[in-house]
Amino acid sequence: MKEKNTMEKIVAFLKDNGFINLSSEPYGGFSSSYDYGVYGVEIKNNLKKAWWNNMTRHHENIVGIDSAILMSPKVWEASGHLSAGFADELVECKNCHKRFKQDELKDNTCPICNGELMSPKKFNVMMKTFVGPVEDSANVVYLRGEACQGIYMNFNWVVNSGRMKIPFGICQIGKAFRNEITPGPFTFRTREFEQMDLQFFVKPEEADKWFEYWKEERMQFYISLGIDPDHLRFHDHPENKLAHYAKKACDIEYLFPWGWAEMEGIHNRTDWDLGNHSKVSGTDLSYIDQETKEKYMPYIIETSGGCDRMLLAFLIESFNEFENGRNGDGGKEYLMKLNYLLSPVQVAVLPLLKNKEELQQKAKEVYDLLKIKFNTKYDVTGTVGKRYRRQDELGTPFCITIDFDTLEDDTVTVRNRDTMKQERIKIQDLINYISKEYEK
Ligand code: GAP
Repeated sequence: MKEKNTMEKIVAFLKDNGFINLSSEPYGGFSSSYDYGVYGVEIKNNLKKAWWNNMTRHHENIVGIDSAILMSPKVWEASGHLSAGFADELVECKNCHKRFKQDELKDNTCPICNGELMSPKKFNVMMKTFVGPVEDSANVVYLRGEACQGIYMNFNWVVNSGRMKIPFGICQIGKAFRNEITPGPFTFRTREFEQMDLQFFVKPEEADKWFEYWKEERMQFYISLGIDPDHLRFHDHPENKLAHYAKKACDIEYLFPWGWAEMEGIHNRTDWDLGNHSKVSGTDLSYIDQETKEKYMPYIIETSGGCDRMLLAFLIESFNEFENGRNGDGGKEYLMKLNYLLSPVQVAVLPLLKNKEELQQKAKEVYDLLKIKFNTKYDVTGTVGKRYRRQDELGTPFCITIDFDTLEDDTVTVRNRDTMKQERIKIQDLINYISKEYEK
């Protein structure tokens, strides 16, 4: 586990290196909203791609969609999100008027000023806005509180257009919004966040089997992308703590610097969603088995992970700080030991000297060769040692140096991020060499 105080260092590091920063910076920042920068957006896209490929390519019976954030407000009535089910118990201090979640308080006094607390009130976390020019109650719509509802709205369409047969899944990556009372730490809990959801439709009698299957599959995803299994665990929800839609729930937790916390939820949602939407909309969302002609309301096994939260876990896991350099003989150095699939830059091309035209020209040729295949960065500023350190901070797996020998024999030095070993490789073999390393 990374020590609690590393969080401050990591947050500063992520800002300094173009990963993540508070939104609206010129205005002093906007609480609990974050922007992904030059390298942050690349890692986030890589994580989404890894998840999407894992779902849709490794499982032949999973397809994807991308549904709208704004939906009919009736969706949220039927889903239970407008009632007490999606509300937090909130208490306000009579003295300083700060608000807290009831279940996060240790006793009945304000944790800030020790003042007396008012009695708890239900506070719905759905975010409201209006459509059209008139701001009245007839025009209220909600920013979706969970991305999966868009999947249920498309259930019939996907079954018919995708010719899907149960068991099958629909996955989606999309934004969700919750008016969280106590956001933080950092991007762990925010009011605007992205979810990566799979809704897997099964026969009711097979729900328990698929629940166990997806628990294991999702755990393996994190391990395969480089999280130490000792930093991961399952947390089964006791029956009295289940969300209003769930019959069974299990979280995958990561050991964050402040302790174990949820990264992804796996739920048996039964026929709650399709059943309620059928009733309220009047559209039948049951499934007909074309072979047996059996008609039934499928059960749903859901895996729902926060993209921002997972990304934070991967960043924390990869963060390494060396007080005296990586070789023990220098100043402070950092290494982001990201899985190759997540690294924002895959290859860096470094001409040995800036002021030698022929070196730059050769380096540009190598850059042009690689940039089509890999996310490649051309870096010419500073000594080669400094540039290696810069690439270590970004988590770049390979640095390629073009020197005077390159001009003679068309070979380059390839430096491996993790071992710091250097190998001489022919330019014509570079794509093969790097591709093979990626397959390891
Ligand atoms: N559709 C089910 C659902 O939304 P959830 O447990 O409320 O279930 C799923 O959310 C995942 O979404 C969580 O495990 C977490 O990773 C992420 N998540 C939820 N609320 C979040 C927030 N306020 N900020 C960031 N991520 C959040």
